[in-house]
Amino acid sequence: MQTEVKPIRVWDLPTRLFHWSLVASFAIAFLTAESEKLRDIHVVAGYTLAGLIVFRLLWGFVGGGYSRFAEFLPTPHKLVGYIKSLLNGTPQHYVGHNPAGAVAIFLLLGFGMVAAASGWAAYEDMGGNFMEELHEGASNGMMAIVAIHIAGVIVSSWLHQENLVLAMITGWKKIRSGNPAA
Ligand code: HEM
Repeated sequence: MQTEVKPIRVWDLPTRLFHWSLVASFAIAFLTAESEKLRDIHVVAGYTLAGLIVFRLLWGFVGGGYSRFAEFLPTPHKLVGYIKSLLNGTPQHYVGHNPAGAVAIFLLLGFGMVAAASGWAAYEDMGGNFMEELHEGASNGMMAIVAIHIAGVIVSSWLHQENLVLAMITGWKKIRSGNPAA
């Protein structure tokens, strides 16, 4: 029997713009973190990152389809089921974010908020050494999750033979017949 492939729209434009703007603002903030000379750029990138996260938190409630938090909330039940499926070699396929990816996404948003808020407070000379440590810790935490996130995207693309990065650019995925979403 021939497998039919059907295009399906997964990521709306605001979600895609959010993602790639977040990548850019995070990269700029990270690369300018140590330089006194580039401090203004670092601060602007930090504010941009904070604004983007606030937007995403709202979009998670008012946005549509697969971008809604309700669509990919990683409950313990879903997460355990997903991990078991990976371990026994029959990975469950999700059209939107899978539960493990969703955990990384919520951690990224959380670390991002703490990094931006503590960065602002430290810049305003509030909280002394503690605030600076918090800022550095949250930023490093975010970097660690980004590395896991990118590895997860690569592994998941390979497991399901689909180009997740292209889907985050175009908004479309190709779903094979047999998938309940097709
Ligand atoms: C070049 C590096 C990156 C690539 C290729 C990439 C790729 C992707 C892909 C393919 C997805 C969708 C995953 C899925 O289908 O479930 C995604 C989602 C996401 N990524 Fe990345 N990512 C990158 C870097 C980052 C960075 C640096 C951050 C944060 C600073 C980030 C934050 C997120 C978030 C928050 C989502 C969820 C999108 C949403 O639902 O709004 N990503 N990423």
